[in-house]
Amino acid sequence: MNVGIIGSGGRENSICFALSKSDKVDKIFCMPGNGGTEIISKNLIIDINNFQEIKKAVEKNNIDLLIVGPEKPLVDGIVDFFENSSVKVFGPNMAASQLEGSKIFTKNLCQKYNIPTANFGIFGNAIESKKFIDNSSFPIVIKADGLASGKGVYISENKHEAYIAVDEIFNGKFGQAKNILIEEFLVGEEMSYFIVTDGESIKAFETAQDHKRVNEGDKGQNTGGMGAYSPSRLINKSLENKIINKIINPTLKGLKDMDIEYKGFLYAGLMIKNEEPYLIEYNVRMGDPECQTILPKLETDLMEIFLSCFEKKLNKINIQWNEKKSLSIVLCSKGYPNEYKTKLIIENIEKIITDQNNFCFHAGTIFKDNKIFAVGGRVLNFISMANSFSEARQNIIKNIDILNWKSGFYRKDIGHKVIDE
Ligand code: AMP
Ligand code: GLY
Repeated sequence: MNVGIIGSGGRENSICFALSKSDKVDKIFCMPGNGGTEIISKNLIIDINNFQEIKKAVEKNNIDLLIVGPEKPLVDGIVDFFENSSVKVFGPNMAASQLEGSKIFTKNLCQKYNIPTANFGIFGNAIESKKFIDNSSFPIVIKADGLASGKGVYISENKHEAYIAVDEIFNGKFGQAKNILIEEFLVGEEMSYFIVTDGESIKAFETAQDHKRVNEGDKGQNTGGMGAYSPSRLINKSLENKIINKIINPTLKGLKDMDIEYKGFLYAGLMIKNEEPYLIEYNVRMGDPECQTILPKLETDLMEIFLSCFEKKLNKINIQWNEKKSLSIVLCSKGYPNEYKTKLIIENIEKIITDQNNFCFHAGTIFKDNKIFAVGGRVLNFISMANSFSEARQNIIKNIDILNWKSGFYRKDIGHKVIDE
């Protein structure tokens, strides 16, 4: 079968790599892909927000299956767009993607089905929002409703900061805002819990913890993710049962009651407090860099998992993982998440050590004239699996030192909660 992968990050490079090992896959096309996917598959330079363009590429290249990496095409209805065509699209449809596309949709679902989450209020204008803030304690969390590339969440330490957040959201910083979400600040430790589902049964798809802040010690600006490790140090059977029974199953039931079927990956962003899970947010896709951290642990053919979902036979397969600890560190261009230079050459890339435990997945790179250039903020993902997180991190740092890319930076403390310094 020919597969198309939509997206251009480290997540998509790791999916492409996993599929390239499957004997069920003939050709892989990445739309638009990156320097790493260009080497192991064929990149098609198209606008992934233009579904007609994707359709043309699907027809021209006889693509049988599309795997959607990022949320935007899902929230915009790519699954619905291809519904009556011969290509199968892996992921939730537009209605189901509201779990990520509208934080208010998800909060209302939580309320109706008693899903543990932060207490919240929904407000339709700045005056009402500020009146509520006047009577609140701090910190308080203020969120824009729709997709905001991870930027529409404010954690406000006082009334002044909270007022600014409200004004920015209602003044359209994240698109026209009809409503705003104000939430209680949850204290605890965050973890990411993943499942895959064919609409009937669900299977756990590993856990991870990521580091979103740009600086060591989890300080500084939020980013797309500077590194992650899997499995999470928090997970155990009892917690997993609570996550499934109190959060995942009621969510899927809530959708079913609305006649909405959820298919694809589902990523629950959780806060764990006193061994109890609270839902912070849903994402309707795999995480980045969690995906590239988790997939190397997968021992089952990823293509088989996708195919079993289309055939609604997910319950028939056994998804197997190795027991190793996997860690990823993201090498970024200096300046990220603010301005950074682009089209910078990355030399020495051929010297990086990759084997069955060590990987380098590309994110913001292009392959041109037989050379790799950095074109994005998050540039390369280094992953290592080992018997301990400490060993995995050492392997990665060795590799980053070999690369010795002067225009980049990375966090040396990824996994600090699971590594004794
Ligand atoms: P979100 O985009 O909803 O994942 O929010 C981004 C980040 O803000 C999360 O990963 C959390 O670190 C933090 N956050 C969001 N909501 C809350 C909350 N209610 N309490 C504490 N932290 C939160
Ligand atoms: N690493 C966070 C995310 O993918 O949303």
